[in-house]
This record gives sequence, C-alpha cells and structure tokens, in this order.
Amino acid sequence: MELKCMINGHPVTADTEAGLSLLQFLRKQGYKSVKCGCETTNCGLCTVWLDGIPVLSCAVPAMRVQGRQVTTLEGLKEEAEEFGRFLGEQGAEQCGFCSPGFIMNVLAMEREFEEIPSSEEIREYLSGNLCRCTGYAGQMRAVKNWLEYRKGKKGGK
Ligand code: FES
Ligand code: FES
Repeated sequence: MELKCMINGHPVTADTEAGLSLLQFLRKQGYKSVKCGCETTNCGLCTVWLDGIPVLSCAVPAMRVQGRQVTTLEGLKEEAEEFGRFLGEQGAEQCGFCSPGFIMNVLAMEREFEEIPSSEEIREYLSGNLCRCTGYAGQMRAVKNWLEYRKGKKGGK
C-alpha cells in the first residue's frame, strides 16, 4: 500500500505493509528519535505530533496518517536542544531515556496553552510520560520555569 504524508514539512511517499504502526513506519523511514518503550500505550516514549497534536505513535496505524502532517523531534531540533539544555541546567534530567516523548509533549503544551499552565495542568498534560529516575518533582519544576521563560521571552507574561 502506498502511503503519502508530510514528515517534518517534507513530502514522503513509501510502500507500507498493512498492520504497521506509525512508530514502526517512522523508524523505518530513519526517524530514530521516535523510541519504543512498551508498544502498549503506557510509557509515552513514542510521542509524535499528528497535525500538531501529540499522539502515541505505537497506537496509530501508519495508514492513518495518509495525507496528514507528522512531526518528530528531528523536525523541532533547535527548540528540543534548547529545552534539553534548560532541563540539564535545572538539574532535572538523569538518564534521559524518557526525554524524546517528554520533550514532544512539553513543546506541544507550550503551543497549546496561551497562558502559563498551573502545576496541576502541567502534571495532567505530562501524566502519560513515564520516567523511572527523576521522581517527577524536578521535571515539573523545570517545565514550569521553562514555560515562564518562554512565555516571558515571547512577551506573553
Ligand atoms: S511505546 Fe508507545 S507508549 Fe510506550
Ligand atoms: S530521566 Fe531516566 S527515565 Fe526519565
């Protein structure tokens, strides 16, 4: 089956097997930032954006993205690197295993909320991103600081 979609703003046409997940499709296409932690919708590691909305790519059949826009971490390189550095400076990163999906959701949240979300809203938004090392407190504090920094920078606060 032929699948045509846009990935990170570039048109892609590929032959795809039925039953392939978006996660498997993207990795086959060379988007190795998309990681698999469970394949059962429990870890959040495989998060990408579909038409700008975060989805778990392990739960989306590849054919579902026909004619649509997919964004991976490779398409958000500069922002992702800046956030990664920020997280490190805030002492909120340990092994980094959870970072790919976590970063995709933080950057989506930044776009979705006009105002700085409350701690409760941040926790809720990121509740699907499992982290086995940080205990979440440092991450949540860093995300709040990041959003304040970004909204302030953009004149939103
Ligand atoms: S690999 Fe998709 S949620 Fe874990
Ligand atoms: S920093 Fe290690 S799993 Fe999140």
